[in-house]
Amino acid sequence: MRPYDVILKKRNGKKLSKEEMKFMVMGFVNGEVPDYQMAAFLMAVYFKHMDDEERYDLTEIMSSSGDTIDLSQIPGVKVDKHSTGGVGDKTTLVLAPMVASCGLPVAKMSGRGLGHTGGTVDKLESIPGFQTALTEEKFMDNVKHHGIAIVGQTANLAPADKKIYALRDVTATIDEISLIASSIMSKKLAAGADGIVLDVKVGSGAFMKDISSATDLARAMVDIGKRHGKETVALLTDMDKPLGLTVGNALEVEEVIETLKGKGPKDLEDLCVELGAQMLRIGRISPDLDSARKTLRESIESGKALDKFRELVEIQGGNPGVTDDLSILKISSKTHEVLSPTDGYVYSMDAEKIGIASMTLGAGRARKEDKIDLSVGIKLLKKTGDRVQKGEALCVLYYNDDGKVNDSIESILKAYTLKDVKPKHVKLVHGVVQ
Ligand code: URA
Repeated sequence: MRPYDVILKKRNGKKLSKEEMKFMVMGFVNGEVPDYQMAAFLMAVYFKHMDDEERYDLTEIMSSSGDTIDLSQIPGVKVDKHSTGGVGDKTTLVLAPMVASCGLPVAKMSGRGLGHTGGTVDKLESIPGFQTALTEEKFMDNVKHHGIAIVGQTANLAPADKKIYALRDVTATIDEISLIASSIMSKKLAAGADGIVLDVKVGSGAFMKDISSATDLARAMVDIGKRHGKETVALLTDMDKPLGLTVGNALEVEEVIETLKGKGPKDLEDLCVELGAQMLRIGRISPDLDSARKTLRESIESGKALDKFRELVEIQGGNPGVTDDLSILKISSKTHEVLSPTDGYVYSMDAEKIGIASMTLGAGRARKEDKIDLSVGIKLLKKTGDRVQKGEALCVLYYNDDGKVNDSIESILKAYTLKDVKPKHVKLVHGVVQ
């Protein structure tokens, strides 16, 4: 077999066998297939796509290319959750302690942020002392004894995906459904859970800009999960505006704590309840979604979810006092209000531009190796549907570097569309694929 023949076959729109795919993927990982041939292969997939069987095979090859986590020593059904990435998406930080406080074991591996979307690991590291790199033994031990652990993904989890993703990133081949689905699912399968809840974001701040392509991605991932014997469900959720009112690491953790106290933004709490309900149902903690939703709301009202968050912070080396004293979080003291240029309603928001404005301040990385500033970001005072007067603040920028503020303001002003008419209400959950 030669890489040339596999590229040609895919370029001509033919279905690949598992052997052919394995030859390309593992050859690339081992350095036998050069970058230029893998890049050509990825571009062929980009234009000719893959069917369900090919996606299943690609996922299988990538998930078994490195370490796999065995969660069988942890009693109960283990359910993982994954978001395709959004702006202000801090759901894992709220959801994990919520479901863990209801008895579902949470053994979570999360990523760092890249581009305009944030990552759970960065957010957690804005809590002074919090360790996201635990040994596997400590990770398991924490889940066994405390029901929760959230760590950074180990270097050797699905290394084939890691290497291919880096090449996709520089060859304009990220946004192809089979490649995204197999990339995400390879890591979820290697992470060892029994069931998977997927939050597929749709809208201006997401990979998938419309419901139809988001549905295709959700179907592809659910199909891969099921073929691997994992109960999998995907929720299609709104990312036409940022989730909650904060974007940026420490600011988002502040909002997480407020949400766990029952004082957070409604969209964030509601989304966590919807995703959590699916997790409790799959984990056999609740018999149906309605009772799961009730259990989750009670976990906030009773303070159980906040207690579990405090416990998580403590067992991973962070300062647990943060739940009572938010000033422990290092949030920049330099602020700038971005004022509305006219009267009107916020008719729509371009969430990606808000994410870019936050990244410009230093809260996100343009490249993987960039260092980020955990203390900066944006607090939104007005979101889609809100009335605003000329000169009233749309949002507050938290910054350290004066030289970055003007570019950030420019992106914010482009993100807001103001009109005289009130926009139609957009649903938080557009649909469920299972
Ligand atoms: N997230 C991933 O992990 N992989 C993709 O391909 C896209 C988003």
